[in-house]
Amino acid sequence: MANIRRLDILRVRNLSEVQIRPADRVNIIYGKNGSGKTSLLEAIHLLGLGRSFRSAKLEPVIDTNANDCVIFSELEEGVSIGLNRTRRDGQTLKLMGERQRSWIETARYLPLQIINSDSFSLLEGSPKIRRRFLDWGVFHVEHEFALAWRKVSKCLSQRNLLLKQRRLDVEQLQAWDQELAQQGQHIDEYRKRYVALFLPALEQVLPGLISLPELRIRYERGWDESLSLADALLQQRERDQRYGATQNGPHRADLQIRIGRNAAHEVLSRGQQKLLVSAMKIAQSQLLHRVSGNKSVYLIDDLPSELDMENRSRICQLLEELGCQIFITCVDAEELENCWSKELRAGKFHVEHGKITPLC
Ligand SMILES: Nc1ncnc2c1ncn2[C@@H]1O[C@H](COP(=O)(O)OP(=O)(O)OP(=O)(O)O)[C@@H](O)[C@H]1O
Ligand SMILES: [Mg+2]
Repeated sequence: MANIRRLDILRVRNLSEVQIRPADRVNIIYGKNGSGKTSLLEAIHLLGLGRSFRSAKLEPVIDTNANDCVIFSELEEGVSIGLNRTRRDGQTLKLMGERQRSWIETARYLPLQIINSDSFSLLEGSPKIRRRFLDWGVFHVEHEFALAWRKVSKCLSQRNLLLKQRRLDVEQLQAWDQELAQQGQHIDEYRKRYVALFLPALEQVLPGLISLPELRIRYERGWDESLSLADALLQQRERDQRYGATQNGPHRADLQIRIGRNAAHEVLSRGQQKLLVSAMKIAQSQLLHRVSGNKSVYLIDDLPSELDMENRSRICQLLEELGCQIFITCVDAEELENCWSKELRAGKFHVEHGKITPLC
């Protein structure tokens, strides 16, 4: 599933009223600075994942002159997703007309990948960003993952509350430890299984973009490899009490991305980093398609920055081969016109002062 057939956006940043019917493959969104291109991608991201990629808070996304925003999309096979977000009363998310309490189901229908100027953070940012990348894949491939992760989050918040109390309630702590150890072990298994599929997928994609013979990616599960999580929690209990927070567990996992002995972001140029991150995201989608038949939707903002013409074309070619739906922004449509094969008829949308017009 995926492929957005219709998209309505009301009052998201400067997009007061937008209605478009995107092409099934490539959609080139072009227009001057400040016209609303990134806002369009942001609206799709918000609908699929419940968060923006450029502000932690969601309020700034709502048009400054309005009290709410609405995003609605129709996907293939009659699937519809609608989101209404208000300044005061939170939000309502609906999947095929049914109110949703979380984004879990919606995210399954709309597997979004984003490549933008922030993509470097996958290499140089905190482990949280790499966990998010990893878990995107695990979530779409291992269907038990979401539930196990929810249980882990609950255990962690309860356990951390107990750790902060002056007198430790050992019995309660043991109960939460038991559940955390069990679910954490599951999460680790899902992630390990996924990484074992992901690394060969990346090995296939990478040479099409960049040669990095010394690249090593290693999954770290978040606690000592020689211990069970139950033992790690027990051994580190005093330390956890001192910190008032759990220091071991699947919430501390990471992907080490290195070139030889160095962290990748310390030795690769900006362009090389963008190529590596793009390859990682393309490999994830290839893998998703192979395992589940599902296609991703790509949101690509400002691809031309950091990349020369040849590399832009290489990324576009790989994306085209994926057969996914792509929303890609640029200032002048010509910048991206020749990056695709001749047979592909890209949809073109001109953005001007928050209005979006298809170019027929
Ligand atoms: N909450 C808001 N309400 C109304 N307008 C907003 C809001 N937040 C941002 N804007 C404005 O929306 C416009 C569109 O911003 P956007 O980032 O989408 O532009 P863009 O086309 O991606 O530009 P660039 O080419 O510079 O990246 C900008 O003029 C911005 O100032
Ligand atoms: Mg922009």
